[in-house]
Amino acid sequence: MLAVIGGTGLNTLDAIDGFVRVRSERVATRYGAEPVVVDVVECGEQTLLFTPRHGAGHVVPPHRINYRANIEALRMLGATRIVAMNAVGGIADNLPPGALAVPDQLIDYTWGRVATFFEGESGDEGVVHIDFGEPYSQALREQVLAAAARATDAVADKLGHAVVAGGVYGCTQGPRLETAAEIRRLRADGCTMVGMTGMPEAALAREAGLDYASIALSVNWAAGLEAAPITLEEIYAVVAAAAPMLQETLRELCAASGR
Ligand code: HPA
Repeated sequence: MLAVIGGTGLNTLDAIDGFVRVRSERVATRYGAEPVVVDVVECGEQTLLFTPRHGAGHVVPPHRINYRANIEALRMLGATRIVAMNAVGGIADNLPPGALAVPDQLIDYTWGRVATFFEGESGDEGVVHIDFGEPYSQALREQVLAAAARATDAVADKLGHAVVAGGVYGCTQGPRLETAAEIRRLRADGCTMVGMTGMPEAALAREAGLDYASIALSVNWAAGLEAAPITLEEIYAVVAAAAPMLQETLRELCAASGR
């Protein structure tokens, strides 16, 4: 079953054309006291799972998200594929605000986040080293890219940017935005975009045996690439403009899943 982890830009599928919430599950996991709220949503012939990464009402900052509980809850409900929505700052020239990308690589700059299901001696699962050379599922990336391409054709108020096939997602710790020098370093490292929520989510999905791909929405130029400071107003304006495109991409993905 397809699962979607919503982020800034798509925090709920409620009241969105083509999606009908059948029920909400509160899933208790072994990773913390708080249950994970997962919506079971019908989209055409398909049933999908949806959970907002930052919690309902966007209350949990990136470094405090219970990534393990989110992934485990989706797995418990039968997810086999996860499409993650990630707002990012654009570093490469082809990722101006409003552009979408489906990254194919990442670099993890986070620290202190619980990043594995396999805790070795302190857990009961032993020591495991997953292969992570290709952090995203190529098959799922291609499905997302095809869906996004059809969505670009379909959405009348599209922003006019093509969907970028590939890119390197640099995951920073946050919650603050980066310094200009940090962005220069990320660019030198090969990052084409920067966000705060891509890791450890992608690695946990791999550990759980789930296919995982990201739809990254550039919501601002990364720090130092423009003279003006980055404002939340600017980010939310881009998010609002891009929302129809994200929604249509998901509808297309559901339709294609039934074929
Ligand atoms: N940096 C990190 N995370 C982000 C940004 C950014 O510029 N924009 C949206 N998420």
